Amino acid sequence: MLLLAIETSCDETSVALLRGGCVLANAVSSQVKLHEEYGGVVPELASREHLCNLMPVAREALGQAGVATGDLDAVAATRGPGLPGALLVGLRAAQGLAFALAKPFVGVHHHEAHLYSPWIGGEPLSLALDDFQPNVSLIVSGGHTMLVHVAAPLEHRVLGGTVDDAAGECFDKAAKLIGLPYPGGPELDRLAAEGDGTAHHFPRPMMRDDSHDFSFSGLKTSVRYFIRDNPGVLEDGRRLRDLCAGVQAAIVEVLVSKTVRAAKKLGAKCITASGGVTCNSGLRTALGAACERDGFTLRLANPTLCTDNAAMVGMAAHMQLAEGCNTSSFDAEIAPGWKLEKQN
Ligand code: KG4
Ligand code: ZN
Repeated sequence: MLLLAIETSCDETSVALLRGGCVLANAVSSQVKLHEEYGGVVPELASREHLCNLMPVAREALGQAGVATGDLDAVAATRGPGLPGALLVGLRAAQGLAFALAKPFVGVHHHEAHLYSPWIGGEPLSLALDDFQPNVSLIVSGGHTMLVHVAAPLEHRVLGGTVDDAAGECFDKAAKLIGLPYPGGPELDRLAAEGDGTAHHFPRPMMRDDSHDFSFSGLKTSVRYFIRDNPGVLEDGRRLRDLCAGVQAAIVEVLVSKTVRAAKKLGAKCITASGGVTCNSGLRTALGAACERDGFTLRLANPTLCTDNAAMVGMAAHMQLAEGCNTSSFDAEIAPGWKLEKQN
């Protein structure tokens, strides 16, 4: 089964090829530079850029995999959630290709795709199912922060999510207050690595709360007040690095403690994490230490697959086809506000 998958839900244009659930190619063109001067993704610019980039990225992926469109057995694309104009570009291209080839089209939920990204690159998913079920999955990006209980492939239930800002948004907003360029998460991570995370204690919102929800907007406000009340902190290299480390420590501790608590409560064997913030070195280290201490298997998405990519969309489509799910219609609409729910 040779599958071509497309992802265009936000600011990454990506095309992947998979054979039997193994990734042959995963080409990604990021628009981060385009949106940098606006401090966030501009939807209209994003969709136009997807239009320009999709065909070159598709050619690159087909070339890397050494296959032609005529060899395809199925085509998949993200249907939602995401930016409407951006989703339309990838979805309509995939449906057109599937229709022209008279092959099945599979519409994929973007968050469901994230659930599969930690399983790409290891042994085939069918061999890893002992680890897989049940798992608790943290999806943590610039747009989303959620905990999902995955009982088995395609059987998942959202446990909780952020009630305000996403964790990546908190990283980016704190980084902006500190004067770092957009998106500030990676730069804050780099500076935090040389700082002392205990020098300033920032609040850990909802950490002891019994729910599986998160809140990050108060943390951003406390960073604003801290900078206001500590003149010169941004001009002093050591104090600036301590500030970054303190912010990172607060976000990471909330994410890790709530994820581990959910896994214990639900009797999960495995914890997984994906989404752009899963690139964060502090989060990767702290999740590793917590899983080691509490006896969970940990599957972190490879840093190259944490951010949006078509390989994970292809993996979710592969699972749907393997489990015999109905394929989508050639004229299925985009689903910008699609909520992740139990699929079977
Ligand atoms: O998954 P993603 O590419 O896009 C969506 O938001 O859907 O995630 C991007 C987010 C940004 O907020 C970015 O600052 C954050 O992931 N991020 C990081 C790191 N790398 C990316 N945050 C903290 N530390 C990092 N190393
Ligand atoms: Zn995403």
